[in-house]
Amino acid sequence: MLQYFKKKLTRRRRRLQVASFFSVPLEPYLATGERDAVIASSGMGKSYLTGVLAEETLENGGILCVIDPEGEYFTLSEYYPVIVVGGDHGMVPLVEEAIDLYVETMLETNLSLVFDLSDYLDHEQQAIYSRITESLFTFETEYKKKVRLIVEEAQIYAPQRMPTSKGHKPGTIDPVLASQKIAKRGRKRAIDSLWATQRPASLNKDILSQCNRFWFGGISAEQDYKAIKPFLKEAGIEFAQLKALQPGEFYFYSQGETKKIKSRKRLCKHGGATPQEQEDIRAVSSAGLEKALEALAEQLKQNQLSQEEETSELIELKRALKELEDENARLKDELNKERLATKVIRRIEVPSINAPQPAVAVAVPIPPEMGISAEEAEEQELLEAFEQAIDGAPLTPLEASPPQPHALPTMRQKPAAAAAPPKIRHAIHAPHPAAAAHHHPHRVTHQIPLMD
Ligand SMILES: Nc1ncnc2c1ncn2[C@@H]1O[C@H](COP(=O)(O)OP(=O)(O)OP(=O)(O)O)[C@@H](O)[C@H]1O
Ligand SMILES: [Mg+2]
Repeated sequence: MLQYFKKKLTRRRRRLQVASFFSVPLEPYLATGERDAVIASSGMGKSYLTGVLAEETLENGGILCVIDPEGEYFTLSEYYPVIVVGGDHGMVPLVEEAIDLYVETMLETNLSLVFDLSDYLDHEQQAIYSRITESLFTFETEYKKKVRLIVEEAQIYAPQRMPTSKGHKPGTIDPVLASQKIAKRGRKRAIDSLWATQRPASLNKDILSQCNRFWFGGISAEQDYKAIKPFLKEAGIEFAQLKALQPGEFYFYSQGETKKIKSRKRLCKHGGATPQEQEDIRAVSSAGLEKALEALAEQLKQNQLSQEEETSELIELKRALKELEDENARLKDELNKERLATKVIRRIEVPSINAPQPAVAVAVPIPPEMGISAEEAEEQELLEAFEQAIDGAPLTPLEASPPQPHALPTMRQKPAAAAAPPKIRHAIHAPHPAAAAHHHPHRVTHQIPLMD
């Protein structure tokens, strides 16, 4: 029964009750989407007001995806079923590879997400932020559930200029482009946004120009005033008026209406307050939240196991590769040693033009090293000369040839080679005179005239 009235009340609500006597109707933004800019110097109440707007979104049945660089928004879990990812109060750890999993869980269960990035450096936060927003954008193409992306300290994630030394890593998503995509094209995917900054001069201009609701708080820096001057002019707000604002006081400007407000008290504790005040914060319990957390924890465990498996497989493959490389090096070494130890002789035999026996036999030591040495070149020349002489006598293995009793002394035969016959690979044989005559009609051969 209570749930019934709560739902009815929520349905009737459709307003953001940001101050005691001021609320923003949501109906005019149904077609355009909601894109808020909350701008104020440090300590002037931006995070507090952003917290109020977050509560109001949840009160209206919306889903939040909060990018929290300071770890302040976990306090929303005090009253609302919110999954806090990472940080000191994280309900699940922030695993970068699991960002799609968190985002899909949010869209499946309608539970809000708070990404606590306070443990990371600015450039690391940018990389994580880009992955989150890309994932949200991609999933929302299919789900199209109304989600509000809240980006605190938005100048970190959508800076006007990326510092070159800390520019986004090649191969990662540019956070500025990711932000512009959400601000410009989020509406069609039901993604509303809120960009809070204390340095509007450093925030990307495209983001501000896409916003359709402005919350101007106390600003003291001239440079920041200049950055928002055109919007203030449109809203009819003077710099002196901004300087005079107290913490929690804002000028609201949207659709031609300007209103000075003081943000209402937070329902949940303000996370930007002193840490002592946050100690007794307890997350609201809900069956849906517990189930989702259990499923997330199980999935993260599975992911980790399969990652560990992949890692150990990779280590095993690397070890096997190293073994093969070592074996290869050992074999090469052995081969080199063998080559040095073995004298290889090439024996060449050529036919005599006038005699039936081979005219010359040459034994040439072949050096073990690769490539053609001077000796080999010389040998090559000799070979060519002989080949020309015999006009293409075929190469056949010497072992198969008949013994050569009249072989002439070798040209550079070493005594050792003569004592122990060297290994011979090939020899050129003189063709049988008859065969030679058959193949080479111009060759001189010995012919015995037939007698009567
Ligand atoms: N509407 C309000 N009612 C009561 N206190 C407020 C209100 N708004 C702001 N405050 C007080 O002002 C303090 C600073 O506010 P907040 O943390 O929102 O500042 P901020 O602009 O976010 O500063 P920073 O840029 O340093 O984060 C808060 O701790 C809170 O005590
Ligand atoms: Mg703040």
